[in-house]
Amino acid sequence: MSSLYLDHLATLQRQAEAALERTGFDTLVIAAGIEKYAFLDDRPYLFQPNPHFKHWLPLTQHPHSWLAVRPGKRPRVVYYQPDDYWHVPPSAPSGEWVDAVELIIIREPEEAAQSLADCVTPRTAILGEADAALPGLTPNNPEPLLNLLHWARGVKTPYELAQMRAAQRRAVPAHRAARQAFLAGASEAAIHRAYLVASEHTDRDLPYSNIVGLNEHAAVLHYQYQDETPPAESRSFLIDAGAQVNGYASDITRTWAAPGHDEFAALVAAMEVEQLGLVDEVREGVDYRNIHLSTHRRIARVLRNAGIVHMSEEAMVDGGVTKPFFPHGIGHLLGLQVHDVGGFMASENGGVADKPEGHRYLRLTRPLQAGMVVTIEPGLYFIPTLLRQLRGSPNAAAVDWACVERLSRYGGIRIEDDVACRGAGEAPENLTRDAFAAA
Ligand code: GLY
Ligand code: MN
Ligand code: MN
Repeated sequence: MSSLYLDHLATLQRQAEAALERTGFDTLVIAAGIEKYAFLDDRPYLFQPNPHFKHWLPLTQHPHSWLAVRPGKRPRVVYYQPDDYWHVPPSAPSGEWVDAVELIIIREPEEAAQSLADCVTPRTAILGEADAALPGLTPNNPEPLLNLLHWARGVKTPYELAQMRAAQRRAVPAHRAARQAFLAGASEAAIHRAYLVASEHTDRDLPYSNIVGLNEHAAVLHYQYQDETPPAESRSFLIDAGAQVNGYASDITRTWAAPGHDEFAALVAAMEVEQLGLVDEVREGVDYRNIHLSTHRRIARVLRNAGIVHMSEEAMVDGGVTKPFFPHGIGHLLGLQVHDVGGFMASENGGVADKPEGHRYLRLTRPLQAGMVVTIEPGLYFIPTLLRQLRGSPNAAAVDWACVERLSRYGGIRIEDDVACRGAGEAPENLTRDAFAAA
């Protein structure tokens, strides 16, 4: 019987067998990981599973579990299910994965060593953090093998794309609820709570901490607080928030202007035109670095048309004038991790594909392949510290500082969609916009 998940599992098994063969290993063992505790305390941090583990299994809250992959055999899952009356232990194994694996249930973490003993040879690759180690199971994380697996992870299987579409559908109603709360004058904290309710998530479930910024707070790229008190006037609202389904993330940003703030609303609209243009550049074979560089040309156009900077677009880009307004990368790989691994790899054998000179915050430098999911997240911000530097530069005379001061009250703009690259000549799939359209 076939299904998206079973096909996904078969693909991973094939990839793993090929990678083991090429790197001279017999078997692959993957630790889910363990809970970590605050220093001198008995409170654990939120559990973060080894992404390699959740690549194979839709199990995200399963510390002390393990997976073994052996050529020609079913994966073995060592499933930790303690007798624990302090916490809710993992429920009895259920779901499609159960019948596809060889399952061993353990009640104590240490039992994993024995349950995996027959899978371990002197040539076993063990993936995990050092603190997951058990006798005979010390993670060695061989780099040549990791390179092959990380490179392959850039391209999603149909099962993974289905999870990621579902993660969009989960986030979209929450983005709408957040916008309603903003329009009603809610505080950042109240907007955040409206988002959680509508996404049916708690903070524990989010793929990353929500960024919820009103007015000037929208200028802080990773604004980490949420004021409980609403500002006297809510002029603008930037929200960067996702959702998670079976360990796969969405990563979505929207920026809104309050009614009556037309100058800022027009700037948001101009940025949206360019953002959609950038999404359309996500095509097989395109070097993602060129999409980043294209962003600077497009932002130069926006700055010029809005009367913020009076310079030719070319001179603006050449003179680095767009950089203080757009001081981050255009996006990154997305999947099991919000900033998914492998973004800088030169090839499946490793090495580094350099960032364009002077663009240190770009997180993806690979040519695009069909099946990759990337974010496209251009921004235009009014960041006091960067504007101060611009003001002290020879280009300052070309800037309309009164206009900058007016717009600074809105903080900034980011618009972020998650986009799947399709095959040769095909337009990309905009996972985010599709979900907004369907909602
Ligand atoms: N939410 C983090 C990012 O957009 O990369
Ligand atoms: Mn984001
Ligand atoms: Mn992002």
